[in-house]
Amino acid sequence: MTDRKSLFKNLEALASQAPAIVDLFNTEPNRLDRFVMREGPLRADFSKQAISGNALDALLDLAAKCHLEEWRAKLFAGETVNTSEDRAVLHMALRGVGGTKDIQDDVNQMRRHMAEFADEIRAEGKFKSIVHIGIGGSDLGPRLVSDGFEAMAEQALTLRFAENVDGASINDALSGLDPKETLVIIVSKSFGTQETKMNGLSARAWLSESLGDKAGEHMLAVTANRERAIDFGIKTENIFDFWDWVGGRYSVWSAVGLSLQIAYGPDVFSEFLEGAEAMDMHFRDQPLQENLPVMMALTGIWNRNAMGYSSLAVIPYSRRIRKLAAFLQQLEMESNGKGATRDGEPAGMTCPVIWGDEGTNGQHAFFQWLHQGTGLGGNGGAPVDFVAVLKDHENRPEHHAALLANCFAQSEALMIGKPEAIVRKELGDRADIDALAPQKTFPGNRPSTTITLDELSPFALGHLIALYEHKVFVQGVIWNVNSFDQWGVELGKVLATTILDEMKAGETGHHDASTTALMGLVT
Ligand code: F6P
Repeated sequence: MTDRKSLFKNLEALASQAPAIVDLFNTEPNRLDRFVMREGPLRADFSKQAISGNALDALLDLAAKCHLEEWRAKLFAGETVNTSEDRAVLHMALRGVGGTKDIQDDVNQMRRHMAEFADEIRAEGKFKSIVHIGIGGSDLGPRLVSDGFEAMAEQALTLRFAENVDGASINDALSGLDPKETLVIIVSKSFGTQETKMNGLSARAWLSESLGDKAGEHMLAVTANRERAIDFGIKTENIFDFWDWVGGRYSVWSAVGLSLQIAYGPDVFSEFLEGAEAMDMHFRDQPLQENLPVMMALTGIWNRNAMGYSSLAVIPYSRRIRKLAAFLQQLEMESNGKGATRDGEPAGMTCPVIWGDEGTNGQHAFFQWLHQGTGLGGNGGAPVDFVAVLKDHENRPEHHAALLANCFAQSEALMIGKPEAIVRKELGDRADIDALAPQKTFPGNRPSTTITLDELSPFALGHLIALYEHKVFVQGVIWNVNSFDQWGVELGKVLATTILDEMKAGETGHHDASTTALMGLVT
């Protein structure tokens, strides 16, 4: 058995003597050769991480000792990697990589069916709008990708999303739409999710008011549980299936992306899949030291387990992918936010908090904390993933140059900081210099990775998302957690059902005093 504890201790010892990041550029003149990687349209610069060449060797050794290559082979071979749910994990098969011939045949059939269906709807012109209903993995991917496609593709139908059980969500989604021209797609792997079912019922009532019996012709379902969709009242021919080996948060590549196919066209969606496929092959075939998802994962392990950071900020300097942090919150935190290992042992430090917002907006909000905030490990602040798109898709060259300059400046500023000596020199002989100088000092040495995409094509977007998916897998292997279950979301769901039933019955049930009082506000 791998003694992870001692391997992590070794990393901690290395981190305690880690040189300042700026110094690494002097002591390792060829640093970029090892710390910058490119695959297709994506370049990732890890050189502004507080990781020396020696530390990287130790991280690669850790990956090898955690049997990463064996786990990677098991993943692509379709072995039961999701052990607690007894399932294979094969979202890569949706982009043509891995799985058996039978699986590939099923996938190809589904892809053909989706493409033909999307083409038909687009050619017919009957529908002008789509309302995509789903939550979590049945929502976040399509939402992120829809915005991302806007950079280079044309949306032929209006696409709205309803996810929250808050009535505002479905009201906003339906507002101003004509039921006669609206297609409602209910997306739920389980078809048992409270929010989605409730929004689906409200959408159906809205359609029925104008269309009567014909409402069913305007409703589709995408699910891995056909029976439940039929019970809900969806016509069998209007159901698109996917499989239990596709995890919800890895499902945008499946029929969950049907609304994207209809709105943007099957060719755009195929290009998106191809981008992910290229990253799958890179991850599957490249040695660990030249492997982008591995490098990204190891960087995260270093920051979490050696430097002690408890969060990671993800800042896209591209409005079109501004929902990246929200998407990654589910992908990373639902996958690796685990407290027990696969063997039932305490897992130690696993997934950090993922958070962020688009740049430059964040600069005027939380960047103060990134530059000078304290606590939360390392030097304070948090490591950052900057994500930028090199091509200007908005025909605003001046805006774009300023956007990129801000992105690059922030990573530099976080790293170099501003030493107190320089601040004191600038302040001269002011009487309040002792109070002011520390306030104007930037500690620096705050790590970041900068990912650039040559352009925000569907291909590049697929590449980027698949990169993060595989990063999550690698980190799960190293932390020895099952990245593909999510038992931690169950308790709240069960209690919400009980509380809703009790509130409807005018009861307060048996709860703690606080919960009882809150329920009393409603009953
Ligand atoms: O809340 C947890 C979760 O099960 C996610 O894993 C999933 O993506 C989401 O709910 C929605 O589930 P479903 O697609 O089954 O409606």
